[in-house]
Amino acid sequence: MKREFQQSLLDKGLERLPNVLIAAAECAPISKTGGLADVVGTLPKSLAELGMDARVITPYHRCVKDKYRDRVEHMFSFSVDLGWRSQYVGIERLVLDGVTIYLVDNEYYFGDKIYRGGQAEGEQYAFFTRAVLDAIPNLGFFPDVLHCNDWHTAMLPMLLRTQYGYYVHGRIKTLLTIHNIFYQGKFGFDFFRDLLRVEDRYFTPEFMEINGCAAFLKAGCVFADRLSTVSPSYADELCTPYFGEGLDGILSARRHQLTGILNGIDKKVFNPYSDPLIAKRFDKGHLKGKQTCKESLMFEMGLQAGPRTPLVAMVARMTDQKGFDLVERVLDELLDEQDMCFLLLGSGDKSYEGFMQEAENRHRGRVCAYIGYNEELSHRVYAGADLLLMPSKFEPCGLSQMIAMRYGTLPIVRETGGLRDSVVPYNQYTGEGTGFSFANYNAHEMKATIERALQVYRDEPENWNRLVRNAMAADFGFERSAEGYARLYIDLL
Ligand code: ADP
Ligand code: GLC
Repeated sequence: MKREFQQSLLDKGLERLPNVLIAAAECAPISKTGGLADVVGTLPKSLAELGMDARVITPYHRCVKDKYRDRVEHMFSFSVDLGWRSQYVGIERLVLDGVTIYLVDNEYYFGDKIYRGGQAEGEQYAFFTRAVLDAIPNLGFFPDVLHCNDWHTAMLPMLLRTQYGYYVHGRIKTLLTIHNIFYQGKFGFDFFRDLLRVEDRYFTPEFMEINGCAAFLKAGCVFADRLSTVSPSYADELCTPYFGEGLDGILSARRHQLTGILNGIDKKVFNPYSDPLIAKRFDKGHLKGKQTCKESLMFEMGLQAGPRTPLVAMVARMTDQKGFDLVERVLDELLDEQDMCFLLLGSGDKSYEGFMQEAENRHRGRVCAYIGYNEELSHRVYAGADLLLMPSKFEPCGLSQMIAMRYGTLPIVRETGGLRDSVVPYNQYTGEGTGFSFANYNAHEMKATIERALQVYRDEPENWNRLVRNAMAADFGFERSAEGYARLYIDLL
């Protein structure tokens, strides 16, 4: 155990590190739609290296059943009341990479999509909340800390305090991590009264009310013992009206209990030196393999250009958050004026998907839009691209830019949230930097930054190579993040 943690335990008169149960809607590699899953999958492994027993509880989604059914062991079952319905809960156990994952089974709620959208999604996770709380005493693992993530699990702290205080649960401390405040799980108060028996007195701005609705996430912000978010800059941003999405008041009031811990990535999964999914392995001393990865990726995706034509890529959920309106505004201009190729891997809003597909038709051989989610292809894109574009309107942390840097692909980012905290902009005077960045959410500012990056690629090969090596040397391993969480957990006791 690290000396620092030993000392903190001694100071608090504790004999052992806290047991932690991490509750989340998704967990990589078994279920994933975005970065939340990566964090939930990596955190317990890194905590184990610090000597901490951290386990995960997450829904037994269809995609998990399809792939892991044979490795899952049934533990016990019971029923919970959700409104007027009594619902089956099965608790299954899966051990993956030494981490115990408890899976909450119910075919009606989790037999289909991870997120159903609208009221149906609210009901999925109201059910999950109740199931987790009722399962805890029988897991054979009693958590000192319940670590909740985003709105889907943000009602846990409130119910724990208001409905389970007299049970063994009363001892459990809670941490809520906000990965994205844009999604809050807002519904009419009736929803909470009917499904989760929340008392009317909590329907006030002091507790759950927000703009005439009530929100899972607000309940978490009010009732969790501690709050955290996924980068120091986003912690500051959350306390402002522009980024706070109506929760800036409560978060400003609790600013001293809100910590920003920058995410990291799993360095074993994302490693250009050992990644079995890429065409040729490489590292920062041997970059020839990266060029092979690029040529093979361009061939695979039908991009027809010379090996020295820069390849700009995006790997993202296609939502407003990720800056696709900026891309829409200037992509044609860029392609008309510059020698470059553009590759997109993503899915989401139909209008953005449509725009990208049309751009591919207009610029055949220079633009490729792969609409869909493809984990394996994402590795080949990170390894084969020269630049990764991430012009987010807001970005709590962002993992894509970290993965890109690990593969020597330079990020072009807007200076917000975790993008600001992880990318060092190129300084032409000192040669320092790990990527390129721009300040304002403006399409032509983004375009100018892309042009600058293309110019360095084309005209300043020495500077370019230095940037690539700097990016690959930057350490975004999860160990540092895990230490941040371990400190918080101990602090909570
Ligand atoms: P967010 O969580 O907001 O989507 P992050 O950058 O934190 O953004 O994490 C996104 C994660 O999802 C990264 O691991 C990225 O590689 C992955 N990802 C996003 N879209 C796709 C896609 N279409 N196919 C494969 N992986 C994707
Ligand atoms: C959210 C954020 C993203 C962050 C991820 C993991 O999905 O949008 O910025 O990296 O959570 O914390």
